[in-house]
Amino acid sequence: MREKIVAGNWKMNKNLEEGKTLASEIVNMYADEVNGDVKAILCAPFIHLTSVKSIIGDAKNVFLGAQNCNDKESGAYTGEISVAMLKSVGVQYVIIGHSERREYYGEDDAFLAKKVDAALAGGITPIFCCGEPLNIREANTHFDYVTKQLTDGLFHLSADQLKKIVLAYEPIWAIGTGKTASSAQAQEMHGKLRDHLASKYGGEVAELISILYGGSCKPDNAAEIFAGKDVDGGLIGGASLKSRDFIDIIKAF
Ligand code: PGA
Repeated sequence: MREKIVAGNWKMNKNLEEGKTLASEIVNMYADEVNGDVKAILCAPFIHLTSVKSIIGDAKNVFLGAQNCNDKESGAYTGEISVAMLKSVGVQYVIIGHSERREYYGEDDAFLAKKVDAALAGGITPIFCCGEPLNIREANTHFDYVTKQLTDGLFHLSADQLKKIVLAYEPIWAIGTGKTASSAQAQEMHGKLRDHLASKYGGEVAELISILYGGSCKPDNAAEIFAGKDVDGGLIGGASLKSRDFIDIIKAF
């Protein structure tokens, strides 16, 4: 059985007090309201991680995630945060290759592959993001575009390493725009991604990988999107900033 995961990507939002309040609400509401086995991951800004970790404590099914990491172990890299540092404050997941990092900070797949290696070497699970911009979707080349991101970012891994990855498909035209991929579009791409993984690693390995959908996922569309057989959860931006919405998305499974 693949893991069901709903990860909240807080991006550059919330000051420390607001972040602590959000984390407390989510932990409490999860304990009170969620019966299933969906993993909730809180990908908070770096400076909130220690506080959010102490709020999570040993809460069942709630985990700490970061939004980025450096590819190097340590050294003279001003302003950067290493995987070992993240590990030392209790981070278990890290988002790698979000489209905002690709677009605004020039991160390409060759560089992202190094971050994936660093995360795996340091014992943190990468949530590797892929997804096409609107012009690629309109040109009908989105399957090639997104599968190439996987090839270039992940296919250097061994099968045992790949099993430790979580994938997130986020069509860029749906991020923060209020425009979601339809459940059929999401399932179609997720199926292609799983087939692509199977072409390199075999069907058994591909079946183990959780593939999350991201892009304007909200309480009122989550159930439909999650119904896709290859959709194993969501990577949630805007709606993860409201505890009620985030919990309702988790409950959509
Ligand atoms: P959104 O962001 O839910 O606000 O569209 C998703 C993401 O960028 O991870």
